[in-house]
Amino acid sequence: MKKIVIVNAGPRKGFNTDTLLRDAEEALKEEGNEVRYFDLYRLEAYTGCVSCFGCKKEKFKGTCIKKDGLAPVLEAIQEADGLIVGSPNYFSDLTAAFRAFYERLLFPYLTYNAEHPSCNERSIPVLLLMTSNAPKGMYASRLEEYRNAFSRFVGPTTLYHCDDTMQLRDYSKTDWPWTYFDPEHKKLRHEEVFPKQREEFKALSKKIFG
Ligand SMILES: Cc1cc2nc3c(=O)[nH]c(=O)nc-3n(C[C@H](O)[C@H](O)[C@H](O)COP(=O)(O)O)c2cc1C
Repeated sequence: MKKIVIVNAGPRKGFNTDTLLRDAEEALKEEGNEVRYFDLYRLEAYTGCVSCFGCKKEKFKGTCIKKDGLAPVLEAIQEADGLIVGSPNYFSDLTAAFRAFYERLLFPYLTYNAEHPSCNERSIPVLLLMTSNAPKGMYASRLEEYRNAFSRFVGPTTLYHCDDTMQLRDYSKTDWPWTYFDPEHKKLRHEEVFPKQREEFKALSKKIFG
């Protein structure tokens, strides 16, 4: 039995990011793992790193000392055997909620010591999911930067990009024509490709954490 933490950095329940993460949660629970699911948008208020340097003191080394809505998430990760993080793409990056979480998770491990740049002694596998309107390949370099940073400070990181998602349930009901998108293409994509992406993501989660 492994302890897995899932962090949802998207605001919409039941949409793309949440659906994929919930699938992974269910699959990992079925295999007997203990899974904790955190919805960043439904926590008590929290901020990104405030640069207090508490985590750079010997007695707190590697631990963020800020006590706000994010503290229970960071505590759970410190005891976890694996981490899954999912976020929609917002303006070519991950969400603001993700960024605050990312700063608070990684900065405590950064020592600024050239010989030992990270003080994390518990490397755990990470699966990072991004969903986006844009097709595969887009944002590859941004995702690669995240993969490198997570791998350096948290543990070996695998990426999954769920691309060309359906952003609205019904594109015909917009107040003005959303001509960026072909509603038929999005509908087909959601009905035929998204189920395959869900299966792929579930299989990947089981392979990494199961
Ligand atoms: C504020 C905002 C900014 C977005 N920016 C982008 C973007 O730059 N590129 C992109 O491909 N999709 C962008 N999207 C679309 C979402 O990434 C995409 O629909 C995603 O799958 C939504 O995830 P969800 O269904 O879990 O909410 C944006 C959506 C919002 C609300």
